[in-house]
This record gives sequence, structure tokens and C-alpha cells, in this order.
Amino acid sequence: MPPLRRKRIVVLTGAGISAESGLATFRAAEGGLWENHRLEDVATPEAFARDPALVHRFYNMRRAAALGAQPNAAHFALADLARAHDLTLVTQNVDDLHEKAGSPEVIHMHGALSGALCAACNHRWKSAAEMDTQTACPSCGAAAARPDIVWFGEMPYQMERIWDAIEAADLFAAIGTSGHVYPAAGFAQHAARSGAHCVELNLEPSQNARDFHEHRGGKASAIVPEWVAELTRP
Ligand code: APR
Repeated sequence: MPPLRRKRIVVLTGAGISAESGLATFRAAEGGLWENHRLEDVATPEAFARDPALVHRFYNMRRAAALGAQPNAAHFALADLARAHDLTLVTQNVDDLHEKAGSPEVIHMHGALSGALCAACNHRWKSAAEMDTQTACPSCGAAAARPDIVWFGEMPYQMERIWDAIEAADLFAAIGTSGHVYPAAGFAQHAARSGAHCVELNLEPSQNARDFHEHRGGKASAIVPEWVAELTRP
């Protein structure tokens, strides 16, 4: 049996991969609001400047929800994929379900709930379960701690590394993302232009569905393991 040829694969995940683990997505028909606040009202630097206590409350709630959540079959399948191919796993999610499922390396382009950032000196540290307006920076002492989350209008993390991986990829897959938010929503088009085969695995066609060569519809916990099995079958 010829050995499996290792492919260079880039996978982008969004809130949809964590939905079956009980973590709310952002733009579901009924959801997308929190305490009647639109996401744009709590996930922006302006919102944090205007009402830091509200923003801390929002992220404390999401941190608690993520702490109790367990990875699903889709997360575990991607951990398997990393063992068979050269996988660059990029997530827009701020939960740690990919890590809990055993993925060796995860690029959190929108930051992570487990991170804290000092708005005064830019020091980063592992966040406690809860943060508030009195939380002091362990480096400069200022009561200026904020979640290390990339808010609307801020530059996502590790973009250079992500673009390089996309340009070298044989295969690009987007899983559980609506294709609303750039730059992530532009990854498929860039991958296709660089010669990669692009596949979308999502509950429904995304906003940028036209950028993909292939679509697999359904719940991530079903369609992602199937897709990975095809890629890892010798
Ligand atoms: N399986 C597969 N896909 C699913 C599932 C599921 N069980 N449940 C929902 N989906 C799909 C939805 O159809 C939708 O297309 O997942 C997508 C989730 O889209 P969004 O809620 O917009 O989340 P996402 O694309 O990750 O948002 C991107 O926007 O709010 C910002 O920074 C935030 O990282 C987030 C970014």
C-alpha cells in the first residue's frame, strides 16, 4: 500500500465547530445577542472604554461557559488530521476546545479567553477565571487588565504566518464560519488563487460560499470526521 502523501492543509474554524459543544455562535437566527447587547456593543475598544465593567462581565460569562465545555467529534478529528498531514489550524474562536481535543498547535487569530492583556503596558498573562476593572497588571500594576481578545477594528494575530501557510497550501478548509468577518472571510479566495483546493464544511452555505470549490453541508460533528477519514485513509 503506498504511504499516504502528506498534504499541506490549512483549516480555518469558526463558532460553528463549537456549537455542538454548547457554545453559542454569533449570527444564529435567534442568537447573536447577549443581555440585549449587540456583539458590536461589547466586543470593541470603544465599548471597553465606555463601559469596561460590562465588557468584563461579557467575557467572564464566556470564559465560564468555555471552561465547562467539552470538545466534540469535529475537534477530535482535526487533532487526528494534524498527525497525518502538515496542518496549520487557524481558529477565530476564543475557546480552548481544539487544545482540549489534543490539537498540537492552534493559531488563535482573534485571541483567547485564557489570555489577559494590560491596556497600559501591553503585558500578557494567563487570565484568572474572572477579571474586572480592579484587576491589576502583574507587570506594571495598573488596574488596566482587558481580555486578550482581538476586538472589531483591531489587527488579528499571526496574520503573516497565516498568509504564508495559505499561499503554500494544497488544501484549504473552512469549518463552521459564516464568512462575515474579514480578514478570515478572505482566506478562501486567497487560497484558491494560490492553487489550493478549497472546501467549506458548514451547516449552511456561508456568505463567501462562492469562493469554495467544494461544499459539505451538515453538522460539524458528523461531516468533519467523515472528511478527515477520507484524508487519512491510506
Ligand atoms: N456545524 C457546522 N456549522 C455550524 C453549526 C454546526 N453544528 N452550527 C452553526 N454552524 C454555522 C452557522 O451556519 C454559521 O455559518 O457556523 C457559522 C457560525 O457563524 P458565526 O456565528 O458568524 O461565527 P463566526 O463565523 O466564527 O464569526 C466570526 O465574528 O463576531 C466575530 O470575532 C467574532 O470570531 C468571530 C467572528
